[in-house]
Amino acid sequence: MSQELWSAVDGYICERLLEPDPVLEAAVAASELAGMPPIAVTANQGKLLELLVRIHGARRVLELGTLGGYSTIWLARGLAEGGRAVTLELNAGYAAVAKANIARAGLADVVDLRVGPALETLAAMHAAGEEAFDLIFIDADKQNYPGYLEWSLRLSRRGTVLIGDNVVRSGGIVDPENKDGVVEGVRRFYELLAEEPRVEATAVQTVGDKGHDGFALGVVTGTRASSRSRSARC
Ligand code: SAH
Ligand code: DHB
Ligand code: MG
Repeated sequence: MSQELWSAVDGYICERLLEPDPVLEAAVAASELAGMPPIAVTANQGKLLELLVRIHGARRVLELGTLGGYSTIWLARGLAEGGRAVTLELNAGYAAVAKANIARAGLADVVDLRVGPALETLAAMHAAGEEAFDLIFIDADKQNYPGYLEWSLRLSRRGTVLIGDNVVRSGGIVDPENKDGVVEGVRRFYELLAEEPRVEATAVQTVGDKGHDGFALGVVTGTRASSRSRSARC
């Protein structure tokens, strides 16, 4: 298997299942022009996010890591009538571009973009008594995924869906030589998920335009997860 083939298959899927989307194409172009790294979710992954929001009937979505607002637009499109998406971004320059991209998508009134280190913003949101979210997409700096999971749980209710991007990192997670901070953050994220009695979770590997990576998906049960589900090992 090769990157070329994975990209060709992503192209095949997007051509057949996704409509041409000038608003999202403009968001990608503006992000590139602003010098952002090309690390937004792919279009078919974005559509998956939109569908997960819609399937869940989510009215309150939280995203950690906005970049140019590409995934934010997908998430916001899935919201139920009257829904809101809150998205957190460290980089003020990125946030300005994202704001324009989100406005161009007609979602300025739906998306609430907050600038600052996400751990601090999350703590402030919790302290301010922010209402629980229905779905949380964790996609900011991977070193802080463990902290993001903890804060996400404090901003969750029973039934909240948790999604984590980039949880495979080209298989780096299973390479004992790999002590990279990103990979160590992701490993700790798995450990916390495994220890956390209030969450049932899985993860799936993906290949595509963005190489070999994966999504984690969890649901907050609010109860001790059954031992049966825990023992159903791969
Ligand atoms: N969700 C985006 C991609 C996010 S890339 C998409 O798929 O379209 C990760 C983002 O996290 C970057 O924009 C980066 O600036 C931001 N980030 C990094 N550290 C952060 C922090 N401590 N707090 C908030 N955002 C952070
Ligand atoms: C990378 C990819 C991502 O999806 C992300 O959120 C951050 C970084 C990357 O490939 O470097
Ligand atoms: Mg990502």
